[in-house]
Amino acid sequence: MKAGIDAIAFQPGSLVMDLEKVFAKGRGEDPEKYTKGLGLKEISLPDTNEDIVTLGATAALKLMERENLKPDDIGRIDVATESSFDRSKPVSTYISGCLEEHFDDDFDHSNKSERKFACISGTQAVNDTVNWIQAGVNEGRMGMVIATDLAFYERGGSGEATQGAGAIAMLISEDPSIVSIERNHGYSSRDQVDFLKPNQQYPSVDGSHSVKVYLNRMRDAIEAFDKRSEITDPMEFELVPFHVPFPSMVKKAAPLGYRRAIRNTTLEETIESKIGDRPFIQNYNSGETYEEEIREWMSDLKRTDEYRDWYQSRVEPTIEISSRVGNLYTGSVHLARLSGLYYGYKNNRDLLDKKMLVASYGSGAQAEVHEEIIQPEWEEKISEMNVESKLNSREEIKSFDTYEDIHRSHKHGEDRVDPLSQTLSEFKFVDFGRMGQRVYEIK
Ligand code: CAA
Repeated sequence: MKAGIDAIAFQPGSLVMDLEKVFAKGRGEDPEKYTKGLGLKEISLPDTNEDIVTLGATAALKLMERENLKPDDIGRIDVATESSFDRSKPVSTYISGCLEEHFDDDFDHSNKSERKFACISGTQAVNDTVNWIQAGVNEGRMGMVIATDLAFYERGGSGEATQGAGAIAMLISEDPSIVSIERNHGYSSRDQVDFLKPNQQYPSVDGSHSVKVYLNRMRDAIEAFDKRSEITDPMEFELVPFHVPFPSMVKKAAPLGYRRAIRNTTLEETIESKIGDRPFIQNYNSGETYEEEIREWMSDLKRTDEYRDWYQSRVEPTIEISSRVGNLYTGSVHLARLSGLYYGYKNNRDLLDKKMLVASYGSGAQAEVHEEIIQPEWEEKISEMNVESKLNSREEIKSFDTYEDIHRSHKHGEDRVDPLSQTLSEFKFVDFGRMGQRVYEIK
């Protein structure tokens, strides 16, 4: 039975900070480090009355309204997040509580969960919901996966420019309108210490190590995918969305996929006739010499017309929105999928029945690559989303001082400041209740 994504809603944090005009200026740094080095123009941040619940509930509400759904149509709600504030009560119950206020109806008979495995848990929740449908136990109901995060870092740390905030809600159903999730996949998972939050709000992160771990797991997952379902032509995938901690990370990862996809093809012969044969580790006595040679060969590969054409059409459209939003952690790869489809729609691309290769990643660490097939109503569903106007409605953070206030206001228990915007969220965080629970109001 076919199952996959039937509708998507995206809710960015209501504030936006320009990295060149505000952040680099405030830190006294060269803006090109962020714009060229990391590939980011601006980042979304949550206003002071927004959090993972208000963003997630707003995305879910928009999705349900657009699809004309009532609570009883939803058989499960899975929330993926790495910004949770409670070790027992799941965020999905807060979100369903907010939605119940709106609908004046309940989600008493939907199964709710909160999933954790860094950024990859959004994809894991989608896969599980697809399995639930394909196992035939959904009784005709749909599942809602909500990936919601506030990707804050400690002030002054290397990750600060790569922050972001937002939620993506995805409706998972039989006979989906946007993409079907296929069985072909490849995993790579290993115990790693690169990015973690041991009982703390901000991550402990070893930045340069985290980049290496991402690349190693991703290369291994792509190989596992290729072994299972051989890729014979990189062009067979019309879009290749990766997890986007910052857009330049994808520029580093994409050549690994391309290199594997062209292996033993005539395209590889064409490319080797231009840049020389690909180095093989078996032909080197020293690992270091091999590393140098393969790095050089990969740089040459990235400069070939064949690679550039592939990258420009298959990968570049998927990082466009992220360059204006920043990292969404669990939602990042799903924003990349949306970005690819959105620019596909804007550029009148014929994507019907075409394949996508979706490459997810979570620190700690695991990568997963799977295939999706674009469905007949994709264009109509994506066109209804008004992605551009949503991004343009965000309130600009005009000074570094204001940014510092917003950041501090979100630090648990520290100076709360008044909201800056008429938040885009339909719900707002108002206070803590008697048992330390978070209390929300409908706007
Ligand atoms: N002009 C142009 N480019 C410049 C520049 C300038 N003035 N200054 C620096 N650059 C370039 C650098 O050359 C570098 O490019 P390369 O990587 O191609 O060499 C790039 O900008 C970044 O510069 P640095 O390496 O000096 O930057 P940094 O060390 O301060 O920070 C980072 C980079 C470590 C990735 C940091 O942003 C970070 O810690 N981020 C959080 C962790 C992260 O996102 N890791 C990614 C993998 S983990 C993951 O994916 C999970 C997740 O979501 C967190």
